[in-house]
Amino acid sequence: MKSGPETNDSIVLKTASKESLIKFGPFEEADFDPNKTAMVADSFSVRFLPKTARAEQLILVPRGEAAKSLKVLEQVYAGLLAMAADRSWSLMAVGGGSICDLAGLAAATWMRGINCILLPTTLLSMLDASIGGKTAVDYQAYKNLIGVFSQPAMVRIDISSLKSLDKKSMAGGMAEAVKHAVLGGKAMLDSIENAIAANGSVKTEKLEDIVKESILFKKSVVEADEREKGFRSILNLGHSFGHAIEAASGLPHGYAVSAGLGLAFDLAVKRGASLAASGKVKRLLKKIGLPTSLEEARLEAITLSGAIDFGDRLRTNISDPDSFVKAVEGSLANDKKRCGNSINFVLPMDIGQVKTELLSIDYLIAFLTA
Ligand SMILES: NC(=O)c1ccc[n+]([C@@H]2O[C@H](COP(=O)([O-])OP(=O)(O)OC[C@H]3O[C@@H](n4cnc5c(N)ncnc54)[C@H](O)[C@@H]3O)[C@@H](O)[C@H]2O)c1
Repeated sequence: MKSGPETNDSIVLKTASKESLIKFGPFEEADFDPNKTAMVADSFSVRFLPKTARAEQLILVPRGEAAKSLKVLEQVYAGLLAMAADRSWSLMAVGGGSICDLAGLAAATWMRGINCILLPTTLLSMLDASIGGKTAVDYQAYKNLIGVFSQPAMVRIDISSLKSLDKKSMAGGMAEAVKHAVLGGKAMLDSIENAIAANGSVKTEKLEDIVKESILFKKSVVEADEREKGFRSILNLGHSFGHAIEAASGLPHGYAVSAGLGLAFDLAVKRGASLAASGKVKRLLKKIGLPTSLEEARLEAITLSGAIDFGDRLRTNISDPDSFVKAVEGSLANDKKRCGNSINFVLPMDIGQVKTELLSIDYLIAFLTA
């Protein structure tokens, strides 16, 4: 598969290790060889498989975060072995960010690495998880603990697959778009504000532009620092608190990141950041229907608890505010990116301006309980 020049319908992400082609529009036959492509999908995303895909080359995995486990990764390897997939094969992920993360890791490690094709079908996976080559599964209570950096050969983005995505899942995806815009600057944030209808949903006609702008921003960061030696860590904005909230509440990733972003702004304001920027971003997140504080995250987790499978990841009683805060503190203290007793925390100082500071976990916990 050759990557063509960048056009309105394609973006090329170039790193030292690879050129990834990101293409917009429906899947084309030339995108893959059906004889030599294994596919990973779940019981819902299976409907987005290319028409020429072979049913016997499908590996079905659980829906959502439950797909990101060593057990499921092993099932993918078993499927590849049963198909006698060799190094000339490709592995295609069809689904949300969880399937992209899982299949990306399987492709990067099967026979020391085979071609990976991603067909993200959720908003979050289109504008974030499929871009940049981070692959992973979760391990015990930790998210993304086992993984590698490995760029996909191709990402195929068909916005029409979002028609079946409910408003809550769209909102979750917008959390990462807002995060990119906070980092990317005022023009990006304005274009998101203009894309949100009065009822908080994204205007359909603006969707593809929002996805493209977000991808172009992430591409610029990944191309500058593929392996997160420094600069790429700005993309962790909202994620220190966000991952702790996700682990404690079981909230979907985007919702937890939104609450983490709101809290990061509150903390940054205490350390001299723009109050106006903080207010603007939090109003936007709220308009989209996303939480911006610990308590809003807890209430959202209660609302969503009937709709999502928390599995064994829910370790706390979310109906009790104190237990919830304690659980978030516990997760923060176990942050896998901590340096000793501190965390490199990304502080949003203004729109388009962040700074990273080493803050002690005790300080962050005191902030959460203040
Ligand atoms: N690798 C990265 O850089 C990166 C970045 C951000 C997030 N992530 C990861 O992405 C994951 C979250 O991804 P997600 O938000 O896409 O959720 P998900 O993949 O966990 O779950 C998606 C759910 O939506 C369903 N679904 C998929 N497409 C659909 C559609 N078009 N219509 C209706 N339902 C659909 C699926 O069946 C599944 O139940 C997290 O594990 C997060 O850590 C990775």
